[in-house]
Formats: sequence, C-alpha cells, structure tokens
Amino acid sequence: MKKSKIYVANWKMNMHLDFALLFSKECKKLIRENENKEKHIILCPTYPAIYSVAQLLQDTPISIGAQNCSEHEVGAYTGEVSAQSLSEIGASYCIVGHSERRTYFHETNEIIARKVAKLCNATIKPIICIGETANEYKENKTLQVLEHQLEPVLKIINEATQIPDNILIAYEPVWAIGTGKIPDNQTLETIFSWLISHVAQHLQIKTVVHLLYGGSVDATTTQEIGRVKNIDGFLIGNASLDFKKFKNIVSLP
Ligand code: PGA
Repeated sequence: MKKSKIYVANWKMNMHLDFALLFSKECKKLIRENENKEKHIILCPTYPAIYSVAQLLQDTPISIGAQNCSEHEVGAYTGEVSAQSLSEIGASYCIVGHSERRTYFHETNEIIARKVAKLCNATIKPIICIGETANEYKENKTLQVLEHQLEPVLKIINEATQIPDNILIAYEPVWAIGTGKIPDNQTLETIFSWLISHVAQHLQIKTVVHLLYGGSVDATTTQEIGRVKNIDGFLIGNASLDFKKFKNIVSLP
C-alpha cells in the first residue's frame, strides 16, 4: 500500500482559538477534496486549543498533536502538562525536542528521551525533532550531531513497555528554520538514507518509523525537497499559519 504523505502543522505560540477553529474547518474541506489522495494532516495547536480542535475534527482523518509535554508523569510541577493529560484531551501525536525548546528552554537529549518515554506510556506518537546548528553544518558534523541526539531517545524507546505503532523523526536543520534556507537535495539524500539505516540498526522494536523534513517548508521548497527519496512528509512552521499557503503545500502531488 502506498504510504500517506504526512503534513505536520506546528503552530508554535500562534493561532488564537477562533483562528485555530477556522483553520481546522478549512482543513476538513481540504481533506474531503483530497479524499482519494494519501494525505495525513496533523495539526499541532497550543495547549489551550487542543481540546476544541480535537472535538471539531473528531470524525475526520486529521490528527491532533501537542507541541511539547512534561518529562514527568504526575506531581508538583507547576505549569507542566503531562502526556496522559494530552491524550485525554484528544492529542494522539506530540512534538518533542524542537530546536526552540532545546535553545530557549535548555532541553537536553536526556530530557527529550524522558518525554518520549512518557508519550509511549500514554500511547501518544512522538514527533522527535533533531537537527544541527549552522556551525555544526559548516564543520560537517551533521551526522555526528544527529547520532548523539538520537542515542538516548532510541534507547528509551527500546526499553519502553508500551510501543507506539508509529514514530516520527523530523530532521530540521536549525539554520533552516524560519530562514528561507534549505539544504540541497544531495545533502538531504545522504542524511535521510543515513537516518533510515541508523534507525533500522538501533531500534530493536517493531514499529513504523516515518521521516519528515522541516525548516522553511513552503509550496516552492516542497516541490524541490519532495524529490528526495525517503522523506515521508514535512513539519511546517510559518507556512502552516496561513491556510492558503498550507493548502498549496498539501495539494501538491
Ligand atoms: P518554519 O518552521 O517552517 O517556519 O521554518 C519549522 C519549525 O520550526 O518546525
């Protein structure tokens, strides 16, 4: 069976509830128009919008994701939101390890791995973001960085008692996020084939792994990047805030 292309809308700290609901209604129509085309949309609103968006889309194939979760299960962690709570309000996916969380909130690879473990327990599918900085890219350290970022995450997934039926890994070079710059296709080919074999070698459990690309994705860059083998979909920031731009990406063959 042909795999669906995956489109994750990472709304970050944007889209008030009324906008989030309007966008979701448009997405419903978009999916109806694309009924026979294999497209899987995952909308990731802010925490307060998750429940209402999930309710609105409950009878559709559109999935809901959160943008973060706590590394703890339960307890005195003021302001944190647990994976279990996210599952209760309708999230079936959750982004972890986004470079903004790594940079502004000092999340380490180990913290990110603990979050993945909590997501596995709550049967939420993790969308694990990895990627190198501009300097690391210039110094040719991309694969080394990715290996280091993935190590504790893959280990914790191997040890998990509950295994999600899908795991998404999003390669997002930090220097490509919101900059309009993207890696060339040859670089992407190398990185994605490395990712496929690295994950196959180190993941000892049975699950389906999808590989996404993120960083300055729009209708133009998608056409270019779409030619790269082994990319199952996209993690979209800026272009997912404007429905027309998002539609242009999702409607591409
Ligand atoms: P961008 O963001 O599409 O605006 O570059 C992607 C992301 O941060 O996930």
